[in-house]
Amino acid sequence: MRKIRVESVSKSYDGEVILDNLSLEIPGGKFFALLGPSGCGKTTLLRLIAGLETVDSGKIFLGDQDITNCPIYKRRVNTVFQQYALFPHLTVFENVAYSLRLKGISSDELSDRVHNALKMVRLTGFDAKQPRSLSGGQQQRVALARAVINEPEVLLLDEPLAALDLKLKEQMLLELIRLQDTLGTTFIYVTHDQFEALTVADKMAIMSPHGTIEQLDTPKKIYEFPESKFVATFVGSSNLIEGTLRIREGIMHVEVDSLGTFAVYFPVEKTWMISGRKILMSVRPEKLLITKSECLGFSNHLKGKVVDIIYYGRSTEYRVQVANGKLLMVFEQNEEHFPQETIDYDDVVNVYFQKENVVLLEY
Ligand SMILES: Nc1ncnc2c1ncn2[C@@H]1O[C@H](COP(=O)(O)OP(=O)(O)O)[C@@H](O)[C@H]1O
Ligand SMILES: [Mg+2]
Repeated sequence: MRKIRVESVSKSYDGEVILDNLSLEIPGGKFFALLGPSGCGKTTLLRLIAGLETVDSGKIFLGDQDITNCPIYKRRVNTVFQQYALFPHLTVFENVAYSLRLKGISSDELSDRVHNALKMVRLTGFDAKQPRSLSGGQQQRVALARAVINEPEVLLLDEPLAALDLKLKEQMLLELIRLQDTLGTTFIYVTHDQFEALTVADKMAIMSPHGTIEQLDTPKKIYEFPESKFVATFVGSSNLIEGTLRIREGIMHVEVDSLGTFAVYFPVEKTWMISGRKILMSVRPEKLLITKSECLGFSNHLKGKVVDIIYYGRSTEYRVQVANGKLLMVFEQNEEHFPQETIDYDDVVNVYFQKENVVLLEY
């Protein structure tokens, strides 16, 4: 499968810049997710790749082939939208068969291919049903079958599960992963929902509100090593603490006004990691340990007061106010393997974290 290369693409609507000199390389044959806040230009980018819109400047390549001005029907690219857009007056079979009929494919082959596509989305036996008699999830499967029947090289999925409830969404995400695996088609899955992107993606790109790519990597790398403040707070939650970086004999510390000095360890050296520079420490809330007792063996310690407790069922979030007035978020799993100490509002607590769990970000 050929990769897709978006090269310095810009696009404006009515004088407003939507995509700003955007470059992106999407690996072929993989499940790729594009994650960004609503309105950042994700759909615009997909429409450019599909050929439904034209670029103002820049180029789009499929492998070595420049497809920037290639007409839609010559691109082996298909799209599934959030709105299922099925033909309401046609049966499931005819909805899926539609594009094959236009191509004049013989009825035996057509029937085989439709049944194969329906089987792939687990809708065997649904041939004669009308779209309106199907649930939202089933309609979206018909839309998927219709999109894959032409064996596209690239399948674009624009928030395809946004209208489904959580349980159904989780199930469909797993089915999409299976489908991509079976077909080997390049999937580009666009969403504003980090849970969806982290679940499906082999690789993912984070798009900023300004229409640029902030970071591209595996979901795990993006989550564990965000490279900017935007990524650290858009994907999951992060505690961001401002401080001054100190490097002595290769060992890094961060000094924070009224909170003291913190040990940090960061495997990657960046040009901005200079002693005396203002930087941000980012720590995931689940990497903080909260307790009323004293613990040994942690690199870093803070004291604070509990000002908020939010119970989520499987976990609890504590908001802890520390000496500089800042609120820290702490997530604790509600495991209760051991009788736990109870933490209440206004309790004074210790918060501990390890230096390996600090991500340093440019200020
Ligand atoms: N055809 C269009 N004409 C004018 N403005 C548009 C058009 N399509 C999108 N936009 C604007 O471009 C911005 C990005 O839209 P879109 O690509 O749909 O974002 P996303 O899919 O990330 O939510 C929005 O402000 C939207 O209003
Ligand atoms: Mg959109």
